[in-house]
Amino acid sequence: MKRLNLLLLLSICFSLISYGQFKQTPLPYDYKALEPYIDSTTMYIHFNFHHAAYTNNLNKALEKYPELYKKDVTELFKNLNELPTDIQTAVRNNGGGYYNHSLFWTMMAPAGSTKMSAKLEKALTASFGSVDAFKTAFENAAMTRFGSGWAWLVKEPSGKLTIYSTANQDNPFMPDSKVKGTPVLALDVWEHAYYLKYQNKRAAYVKAFWSVVNWAEVEKQMGM
Ligand SMILES: [Fe+2]
Repeated sequence: MKRLNLLLLLSICFSLISYGQFKQTPLPYDYKALEPYIDSTTMYIHFNFHHAAYTNNLNKALEKYPELYKKDVTELFKNLNELPTDIQTAVRNNGGGYYNHSLFWTMMAPAGSTKMSAKLEKALTASFGSVDAFKTAFENAAMTRFGSGWAWLVKEPSGKLTIYSTANQDNPFMPDSKVKGTPVLALDVWEHAYYLKYQNKRAAYVKAFWSVVNWAEVEKQMGM
């Protein structure tokens, strides 16, 4: 009984310690759900090690400023330059890694489970000339990002849709981002996202991504 009480006390202490910290939302599908385009081992490692590390490191960096756990992480990005200087880099890199991956998981779905609606097709055609032209421009952003980073489709405050890419774990909320707005499609082009299956063939991974894009989520992010 004493042992049970001790375990209960410890579990309450741990939950109090972690209260309010940033947490990973479980994947909305199985690790193998995106096969053969994204392999299950990559998904497992990417979610449980890479994304988990960014999340843990963000929480650790904010330990001195626990009031920041209550903020929406995108607010931390928008006010990056006003944050205490000793955590700005950690919020940029680990906060970016936490948020970008959380968004990325929702941007994918099992192949064939969602379809681009006529409404979305119309919006992409109006912005880029055609859906094919949109895809080519997005692939180009993903391919020309030197080193590690992300390709984005961003809805700017004016409503304009813009494709661009950022280095490392930067994103369109950060003050020095050349394009600012809400990311409505995201693609991780860090090697850890594709190396096991595609090795150095980033182009093959980028092409494969189209088979698992969650078009319903893109529409949701666009507010359609
Ligand atoms: Fe990643």
